[in-house]
Amino acid sequence: MSEMRYDGRVAIVTGAGAGLGRAYAELLASRGAKVLVNDLGPDIRGEGAGHGPADEVTRAINDAGGEAIANYDSVATSEGGRNIVAQAMEAWGQVDIVINNAGVTRSKGPIDENTDDQFLHDLLVGAGGPFFILRNVWRHMWERDYGRIITTASGSFYGTRSAVGYPASKGGAWAIARSLAHVARHNGKNIHANCIMPTAAGRMTQLMGEDIAAKMREHFMPSTAAGPVAYLVHEDCEINGEMFRVGGDRMKRVFIGQTPGYAAEKNGLTIERVRDNIDQVMSLDDGFIIPRNNTESLIDDDRVPWEKLNARAI
Ligand code: NAI
Repeated sequence: MSEMRYDGRVAIVTGAGAGLGRAYAELLASRGAKVLVNDLGPDIRGEGAGHGPADEVTRAINDAGGEAIANYDSVATSEGGRNIVAQAMEAWGQVDIVINNAGVTRSKGPIDENTDDQFLHDLLVGAGGPFFILRNVWRHMWERDYGRIITTASGSFYGTRSAVGYPASKGGAWAIARSLAHVARHNGKNIHANCIMPTAAGRMTQLMGEDIAAKMREHFMPSTAAGPVAYLVHEDCEINGEMFRVGGDRMKRVFIGQTPGYAAEKNGLTIERVRDNIDQVMSLDDGFIIPRNNTESLIDDDRVPWEKLNARAI
């Protein structure tokens, strides 16, 4: 079986000074990629900054015979996103892979206790990060007709008792990957964007208590998530616009399905008809579709030529 390699490829990995990002950066570098190791170096709540994490990983990669440079910008600012891409372009003249991994949880507790700053900071890192970076590299990828992009969601997106800012940012990260995947596919571009929902031992899981943290360290070290992520950013990988749960040596597809539901005649969907047919709306007995984009989610209703509407981006 041939080894999958990344020689000649340039990767940006954000939040690569620790945890999952470090595992991705080290794996890609060990297989030939040149890696920009970005890390602002804040604490788990996104406070503070330092060069230590990015420097340490960069040194480890270079000492092992790989090629890496460190970057200390925040992904959560417009300027940071611009600098990160500019530094990779200056060093190597191209960007092939962007793994948007940096994430923090500044929000804590129930929604009525969350401050504007907590909510907005989580959004700015988790969803803003991919936006600030990818908008600076998109044209480059488009013109070269090549790109492999990962955004990072979280199982909290399924619903969590924790604060809403973090999962909201993760939903945004998924939506960004899906939209970029759709526009690239629509235009026949070899740019793929996928999203992952990782599970890995790290400083976030330390917050869950020592009994679970110890089990996580046993089965979910960050390296157990790196193979799936590296596969998704390989040139041979055709997967585009999908979501996967990764970690603990497992990789699972995550998708949004839509039921055929219930259809009433024109102006017939009264409150009572909804009440009387809600079981059919909810039922999976008639199967479901997995739309890749908005148009595909509407296509089973042929009363409007949705394809034509979607041809015009709004
Ligand atoms: P981690 O806290 O070990 O690593 C995240 C890195 O991002 C840190 O080194 C931090 O310094 C850096 N960072 C934070 N804010 C930054 C900013 N504004 N700009 C640049 N770098 C910044 O976390 P871990 O566990 O490795 O998580 C990585 C990603 O996976 C995060 O997006 C996280 O939300 C997500 N995730 C992790 C899970 C897990 O089980 N570990 C579960 C679900 C999602």
